[in-house]
Amino acid sequence: TLSVGLIGWRGMVGSVLMQRFVDEGDFSHFNPVFFSTSAAGKPAPEFQGASPETAQLQDAYDVATLAKLPIIVTMQGGEYTQEVYPKLRAAGWDGIWIDAASALRMAESSIIVLDPVNRDVIDAGLAAGVKEFVGGNCTVSCMLMGLGGLFKQDLVEWGTAMTYQAASGGGAKHMRELLNQFGHLHGEVADELADPASAILEIDRKVLAAQRSGLDASQFGVPLAGSLIPWIDSDLGNGMSKEECKGSEETNKILGRGQNLAPGVQRRGAAIPFESLCVRVGALRSHSQALTLKLRKDLPVAEIEQIIAEGSEWAKVVPNEKEATMEQLTPVAATGGLTIPVGRIRKLEMGGEYISAFTIGDQLLWGAAEPLRRMLLIALG
Ligand code: HSE
Repeated sequence: TLSVGLIGWRGMVGSVLMQRFVDEGDFSHFNPVFFSTSAAGKPAPEFQGASPETAQLQDAYDVATLAKLPIIVTMQGGEYTQEVYPKLRAAGWDGIWIDAASALRMAESSIIVLDPVNRDVIDAGLAAGVKEFVGGNCTVSCMLMGLGGLFKQDLVEWGTAMTYQAASGGGAKHMRELLNQFGHLHGEVADELADPASAILEIDRKVLAAQRSGLDASQFGVPLAGSLIPWIDSDLGNGMSKEECKGSEETNKILGRGQNLAPGVQRRGAAIPFESLCVRVGALRSHSQALTLKLRKDLPVAEIEQIIAEGSEWAKVVPNEKEATMEQLTPVAATGGLTIPVGRIRKLEMGGEYISAFTIGDQLLWGAAEPLRRMLLIALG
């Protein structure tokens, strides 16, 4: 049984991953070695089914200890990766690095993992000796899990995604901030709300006043509750946010197209133009996307739905009807599950090759933990 170093297991993505290991009985396939950036020497955590190789937390900055492990999985974040990973390789470490952070995603030495969509790319990289496997951007992974069938059959000529991204994408503190904002706003007008005869425009005025001056928005920068923020991640200075840039670059790299393909990965074709406009909304942990796709062929909707449904065992077509949509195609319905609902599929007026679609995925499952979990199982063989 191989030993696997786990770093960042206590954070939000890490906690979701540990729960998945427990749920799937994965801890029986490897001996975990738990690391910490702050509490080395303290007792290792107890997860059901896990028999840690050492009873104490190891120091996540101790390169010599890390270098003994054949596989390391980190959810500690990009700064940790940038600080420790180069030192580990400089020390001659030859193991497999599986990372949730974006730091190494577009490096030519890495593969972005989403095996239900790009197992062929992962296998080609492994065969060629690639040792860096990085989880994709959450929005990209969820979108490809939903629409993978169309991409696998090379049916997408170009696409656009208008996103509705949940607070969890910012982190745990962002989720708390959003909920505190909701609570604060409710508190401002609780008396008026309790009185059905109170004036709604007065309630609206008070809420707006609180949004403009009374809310803690230290994480997001501006209020999110009762509002939205059409900018995610840094400003690239070319009119695009970094999140939007990732949408296009990572989608293509995952598919074995575009830039910075790892050694051994044969190009599957030219990059697919994929544009997005990324928006933060007040959802908690599922990212949604409204898509416009131009297909290479004018296919009947029923056939498109079938290709999507057969694209992976997790994609689920929701009939393009009001009731089914409201019940099955919301962040509330999708959160906590691995199913990626895909709905609102119809032909657009622009022509027979143009379709709309709407997908939702749990940002912490397929958007973060699950591709890493599955890559670990692939690496363990
Ligand atoms: N950048 C994403 C977001 C999260 O802010 O929603 C992680 O990929």
